[in-house]
Amino acid sequence: MSGAVLVVGSANADLVAEVPRRPGAGETLLGGDLRLLPGGKGANQAVAAARCGAATVMLGCVGRDANGAFLRERLIAAGVEVSGLAEVDRPTGAALILVTPDGENSIVVAPGANAEAGPELLERGAAALADARILVLSLEIPAETAFAFAAAAARSGTRTVFNAAPARSIPAEVLRSCDPLIVNEHEACAALGEPETEVTDFEALARRLLAAGARSVVITLGAEGAVVAEGTGGGDPVVARIAAHRVRAVDTTGAGDAFVGAVACELARGAELDEAVRFATAVSAMVVQRLGAQSSVPERAETEAYLAR
Ligand code: RIB
Ligand code: NA
Repeated sequence: MSGAVLVVGSANADLVAEVPRRPGAGETLLGGDLRLLPGGKGANQAVAAARCGAATVMLGCVGRDANGAFLRERLIAAGVEVSGLAEVDRPTGAALILVTPDGENSIVVAPGANAEAGPELLERGAAALADARILVLSLEIPAETAFAFAAAAARSGTRTVFNAAPARSIPAEVLRSCDPLIVNEHEACAALGEPETEVTDFEALARRLLAAGARSVVITLGAEGAVVAEGTGGGDPVVARIAAHRVRAVDTTGAGDAFVGAVACELARGAELDEAVRFATAVSAMVVQRLGAQSSVPERAETEAYLAR
């Protein structure tokens, strides 16, 4: 079990229905046909890193059920090494996803097997961590597991891409191993342990995350692109805005995860962070134009053709 990118995270069966609008309390709404699609933040990130060309290993948990077999098979088909994907006695994680005509979604996650991904995964993942150039973490598994992996990566000198999603506060010692921390504006406030306020200055928000300890920061802003901020060891941080591509969104599900996986792949290939974010921005532009999370991630050649157009 070895690869340039090691993803430790969740795998979910996404149950997706397109709806004309979000239902209200007590309301029954007719939607489109139900689709079962492979998802989960960790698995989406792993598939994206692999499709972008990185040798990728995924560590996590699924149940001993049809959804678990389905997710494993989809990861293998994308070229992800899954011998570290354990089977546990809980139902495979699932996400109930409603997609509205503007391409936005509402999601309820039933963690199931993902909740069993405890810090003991570290023993199973030690060799993979030692071999990896980049560790990718997110928070649909128990936070103590992600934090333990971040600490182990810091000890072994492995660079950690930390996607602090879903939103929660992140201890300072964990922030210090994030290079980069990747968050949207809501997750950024939560990571700082602050109540959510209307943010207008994203560059300042990124600087505050650096001041709180992160080695580098990427704040994703959807159609507004991303802010990239890097510490310079004492000097003024370098902060830049990278524009998004103008596209019509069909389904934004998994766009953030594909972005994270693409950044990890590019960093593993030796790219600078701003270059990695430019490439990842093109990957997410394609993901939002198709239904589904993993199912909409392009192969590297497609992203390169898109960037060269
Ligand atoms: O980030 C998108 C993912 O969130 C979906 O694939 C769904 O599984 C939820 O976990
Ligand atoms: Na999509």
